[in-house]
Amino acid sequence: MSTSPALVVENLTKTYPAKGKAPAVEAVRGLSFSVEAGEFFGLLGPNGAGKSTTLGCITTLVRPTGGRILVAGVDVVAQPIEARRRLAVVPQTRNLDRDLTVREVLTYHGRYFGLPAAEREARADRLMTELQITEKATSKPLTLSGGMQQRVMIARALMHDPRVLLLDEPTTGLDPQARRQLWELLQGLHKRGVTIILTTHYMEEADRLCQRLAIVDHGRILTLDTPDNLKKSLPGGAILDLVARTPQPLLPTLAALAGVVRSERLEDASGDATKERLRLFVDAGDGLLDRVLSVVKSAGADLDHVSLMAPSLEDVYIHLTGKDLRE
Ligand SMILES: Nc1ncnc2c1ncn2[C@@H]1O[C@H](COP(=O)(O)OP(=O)(O)OP(=O)(O)O)[C@@H](O)[C@H]1O
Ligand SMILES: [Mg+2]
Repeated sequence: MSTSPALVVENLTKTYPAKGKAPAVEAVRGLSFSVEAGEFFGLLGPNGAGKSTTLGCITTLVRPTGGRILVAGVDVVAQPIEARRRLAVVPQTRNLDRDLTVREVLTYHGRYFGLPAAEREARADRLMTELQITEKATSKPLTLSGGMQQRVMIARALMHDPRVLLLDEPTTGLDPQARRQLWELLQGLHKRGVTIILTTHYMEEADRLCQRLAIVDHGRILTLDTPDNLKKSLPGGAILDLVARTPQPLLPTLAALAGVVRSERLEDASGDATKERLRLFVDAGDGLLDRVLSVVKSAGADLDHVSLMAPSLEDVYIHLTGKDLRE
């Protein structure tokens, strides 16, 4: 049915059984979400959150312990072959055949999915152009940069014209320029209608690319919404960072101001005891900044830095888990 969502995941669980001395691992503990056709959806979470396991279950490589997954209406456990035709995956570890050329990587994949010769060649040409790898058509993949290899894997994944493209941490290990190029290519694919599901532990990447995202930790969804709504959900709605040299602590007075919802003293690496580094979660409305500055002035403090920012997804994650996402 053309009206089914591109993907439905219902109460998915996966427990890897105990092996020898290694105990059983509850990698996924009841995930539910669905992705509409044409959507760009993200699973954002730290190492070990269960992202690859979830993708493995969706792509039929990992057998779920419980729950149900439908790809374009097709149950992946009951009809794995039908499901695999409707999806494509770019795995976390590169797995390009070292003996084939880039063109052959694509056309062999097309043959595997039963595409007639003329169509596979035409499609390979079109995808190599789209992913900007045409000039590497006769190269062996392992001679290419990481960013180029990643694009070959995406082109290969798209050869059988899947409904859903899943990418497992596609930009991990790429340099900033290659990462940006890949972002643009993914946005291009999304614009032409490809449904994309991406996992990442990069906040900025999730923020920039995903229309909706789930923050995943320890096999559970902590929250799921648009990046904007997630950021708006933080107390106050804005973050005021302030660094000052001060003869007396500023925090108690600032924390008591109208419009300051929460306040924290941050570590200061300089070791300078007169330096106070503060983060205030604020409701940035009427005159807040004036009130803050007048507290600073009347304490006789020297202001080194002040910034009022919209919160980032990083701040959302810290707020939800109390920890930093970076390894
Ligand atoms: N084949 C397996 N056998 C046993 N445990 C596994 C297996 N694969 C993953 N795990 C465990 O399941 C948990 C989730 O792992 P998973 O690879 O799904 O996380 P992830 O979010 O993809 O992490 P990363 O960001 O590091 O790729 C981890 O504790 C991991 O050690
Ligand atoms: Mg993973």
